Amino acid sequence: MNLKLKDKTCIVTGATSGMGKAIAIAFHKAGANLVLSGRNEERGDLLAQNLENSIFLAGDVSEPKYNKKLVEIAIENFGKLDIVSLNAGILGLGNVIDLSIADWHTTLNTNLSSIFYISKYAIPYLEKNNGNILINASIAAFKSFPNHPAYCASKAGSVAVMKQMAVDYAPKIRVNAICPGPVDTPLIWDSAKAFEDPEKAVENAGNTTLLKRLGKPEDIASLALFLVSDDASWITGTAMNIDGGILNT
Ligand SMILES: NC(=O)c1ccc[n+]([C@@H]2O[C@H](COP(=O)([O-])OP(=O)(O)OC[C@H]3O[C@@H](n4cnc5c(N)ncnc54)[C@H](O)[C@@H]3O)[C@@H](O)[C@H]2O)c1
Repeated sequence: MNLKLKDKTCIVTGATSGMGKAIAIAFHKAGANLVLSGRNEERGDLLAQNLENSIFLAGDVSEPKYNKKLVEIAIENFGKLDIVSLNAGILGLGNVIDLSIADWHTTLNTNLSSIFYISKYAIPYLEKNNGNILINASIAAFKSFPNHPAYCASKAGSVAVMKQMAVDYAPKIRVNAICPGPVDTPLIWDSAKAFEDPEKAVENAGNTTLLKRLGKPEDIASLALFLVSDDASWITGTAMNIDGGILNT
């Protein structure tokens, strides 16, 4: 077993599902102490029971106070904070005419403002230990998808704020993003509803990658583990695509 994150304290958002859950499990196997965040209390409590040295707190990442609480829990229980892995995300589907103003704001607040909130509270602690932040953005930061205006805007903004924070907080803190292509999680099935034939859309999403399959949450967790570990100690300000080659088609 490779304990790359032994004695590291990590906050993982979006931990109750999909990639965030796979990332939480990978960080746990690497020896980390975890503060887990998500909306579903039942799934979160079960996950925390199964991962030793982990605490789950249900809440809404678009609320500044909840982000502050996640940081406080890390400090109160584990005495320090080393890594923040941000995976919470929603789609906010609908073209510009159809999407309500409320849904535009909810999507931006959940996917983008939440990064600002938690970073604001976490950075003073991360600075003490040369910590790092890893943002789960998307290839939607660079490529447009039908009926995803709020999502694409939030993901492009996530990459921009990642690069900006990497400048302000170097050399003490590294800040990076991963940009997944189509990954087999509940979210991709919701995303497919924006297409006429959702089943076909998901099948096509996998087939149109160079590697002819959807990503697995574990594919993303492997990259996340590398990027937050000391193995990546000379990587900052980078948005790394992990997309089966789809942006190169
Ligand atoms: N699945 C894909 O194809 C894909 C591709 C690129 C990027 N992404 C991004 O990866 C990240 C993880 O997505 P996933 O595919 O694993 O989806 P998922 O739906 O399986 O998981 C999303 C997680 O975000 C949490 N969440 C959503 N809104 C929240 C809120 N307001 N407060 C707290 N938690 C909230 C949910 O509880 C859940 O744990 C997202 O940011 C998503 O945009 C997904």
